[in-house]
Amino acid sequence: MIKGEPSRTALLTAVQRGHHNLTAPEPKILRDDLALAIAGLDSLEAAQGYIDNMIEVFAALSDPETATIFMKRIDGSVCMRSRVVEEELALAKPRGIKQLVILGAGLDSTAYRRTDLTEGMNVFEVDHPATQAWKEERLEAANIKVPENTKFVAFDFEHQTLAQALEAGGIKPDVPTFFTWLGVHMYLTDEAVKATLGVLGKFPKGSEIVMDFISPSYVLAGGIAEDSVAQLSKVVSQMGEPIKSQYYEDELEAILNEAGFSEVKYLSAKWLVENYLGGNKDAFDMPEEATSILYAVI
Ligand SMILES: C[S@@+](CC[C@H](N)C(=O)[O-])C[C@H]1O[C@@H](n2cnc3c(N)ncnc32)[C@H](O)[C@@H]1O
Repeated sequence: MIKGEPSRTALLTAVQRGHHNLTAPEPKILRDDLALAIAGLDSLEAAQGYIDNMIEVFAALSDPETATIFMKRIDGSVCMRSRVVEEELALAKPRGIKQLVILGAGLDSTAYRRTDLTEGMNVFEVDHPATQAWKEERLEAANIKVPENTKFVAFDFEHQTLAQALEAGGIKPDVPTFFTWLGVHMYLTDEAVKATLGVLGKFPKGSEIVMDFISPSYVLAGGIAEDSVAQLSKVVSQMGEPIKSQYYEDELEAILNEAGFSEVKYLSAKWLVENYLGGNKDAFDMPEEATSILYAVI
């Protein structure tokens, strides 16, 4: 991230969710009707302009057709990872999970939008101080009230000790906890990723994490952009947030197991389409076996 500035990729992913909400045909992957307001974009035209500009940035690395497919797939993945959180939260609630920790929250709107799922839970948004201060300003400007059960914990994954920050922020280490870590690990070093998972893995049995990941074998555009990780890396580097870690599935599973997560489940595009979208492949147009999202339980 650019020193002292809020995350630009957090703005990007919020615009992607908001744009999807307004433009994607049914069945939509996600219904984030607060994303654009939090992002500070007040119209579909503004959101479309932002997305078109991103497509141009990608097109400079390939061609307009590839870039359009690429961007659509990144949009889908960004919405889908939040959808997995909502689906898993709905299952966690009856299991008695009372603590939700949104790590690297960015402009995530779950706490404000899905109070049906978070009711009865203590919700903590953990993020870099610069991004978090900006989000608090944005929420106020958009007239979105922070629910009483939601607290902000400022934290830098690269330069602070997570266990101490969680405890200082009021997160109870002896309570089964639902963690989300969406679109974050790739911006952190391998050391910071392992240190983070090492702390989370010590939470009690019944705790769970939903996260997405970038793999060196990640081919977002299903063969038409074989160097998709390199392209993504160039674009996010230009935004001041270079990709610092990537994992093959078996490597990440070993790290999660070592940290204390016993069961790791990778969710393939095929599984997601069948289970969440009634088999409608067009709604999430990814190669069937592609995985970029997982959940793991302690
Ligand atoms: C791509 S955004 C994802 C935001 C959100 N989770 C989402 O799905 O839209 C990356 C997030 O990681 C956070 N982040 C990146 N590096 C960080 C660091 N060293 N410490 C704390 N947060 C960091 C940024 O502030 C930002 O909120």
